[in-house]
Amino acid sequence: MPERRFVVIGARGQLGQEFLRVLGERAVGLDRSELELGHGVEALARVLAPLRPVAIINASAFNQVDAAETQRRAALAANALGPEELAQLCAQRDWPLVHFSTDYVFGADELARLRTEADPPAPINFYGYSKLIGETAVLRAHPRALAIRVAHLFGGHSLAAGRANLVERFVELARQGKPIYATRGQVLNPTSVIDLVPRCLELLDRQDYGLFHLTGEGTCSAIEFANEVLRLSGLATVIVEVDQDARPARRARHTALENRRWNTTHTAPLPHWRESLASYLSQPQFT
Ligand SMILES: NC(=O)c1ccc[n+]([C@@H]2O[C@H](COP(=O)([O-])OP(=O)(O)OC[C@H]3O[C@@H](n4cnc5c(N)ncnc54)[C@H](OP(=O)(O)O)[C@@H]3O)[C@@H](O)[C@H]2O)c1
Repeated sequence: MPERRFVVIGARGQLGQEFLRVLGERAVGLDRSELELGHGVEALARVLAPLRPVAIINASAFNQVDAAETQRRAALAANALGPEELAQLCAQRDWPLVHFSTDYVFGADELARLRTEADPPAPINFYGYSKLIGETAVLRAHPRALAIRVAHLFGGHSLAAGRANLVERFVELARQGKPIYATRGQVLNPTSVIDLVPRCLELLDRQDYGLFHLTGEGTCSAIEFANEVLRLSGLATVIVEVDQDARPARRARHTALENRRWNTTHTAPLPHWRESLASYLSQPQFT
């Protein structure tokens, strides 16, 4: 009998790729062509049951915040209905589940402070709304589920065309001598998937289920982040401030998260985003 392995759904995405890199032969990845969420529990069971998962990691999502405003059905299938069905199946089979959510579940209350897991969510755009339905349904359906809210991911590499992370995008623009367009108004929690993945696995290992915030320590604006990318990579280009209110989906100024539950139950906080960014930019593809 082959050894049971982790199953990573959304395997071609930035976070899915990082789980597969870290877990190596302990995991099998399923991309969207192999498993698409949102088609019922039976469809999921047909693909997942033969794999006898040790745990399921759902790194898939409809992640395009602006497109979610108009493609609401697809956003709900991937972010809400699909995760709910997945959690129902995992509960039936007693497979632990790791699901990811977002800081965008906050914002409508306009509170100007970091949000803990105890703060009531209030999304301001449809992406945040669909992710909130998803995380709530997952936690309701499955006592052995983790719903982990993350934000502004970098540090990995999506295999999907046009889905470069912010750092990859800024470096590419600077190398081509093109301007970087960035906002100042939104408070970000840049989070490295390199920091995130081992901590998610630690939570699974400790059977610490429920809702967690896991983001890089410290906050910044996109303009500060872009300046730090340029400084650390020794590149130069013009940074142009853009109006965040000009985008199709509304963005709140404050959605940044505090890792309250992690920091009270674990000894080491996540690194500051500047430290994680410096470590990521020292990788060969940037030097
Ligand atoms: N990236 C961020 O800054 C950020 C911020 C906050 C929260 N998060 C959350 O973190 C998690 C990972 O994000 P990520 O940036 O790694 O995502 P990503 O790079 O966009 O990858 C998501 C993957 O999910 C796949 N997918 C989309 N709809 C699907 C469906 N219905 N069934 C199965 N697969 C589907 C996509 O496939 P296709 O490419 O073929 O569509 C894509 O490969 C998500 O839950 C996301 O909401 C991310």
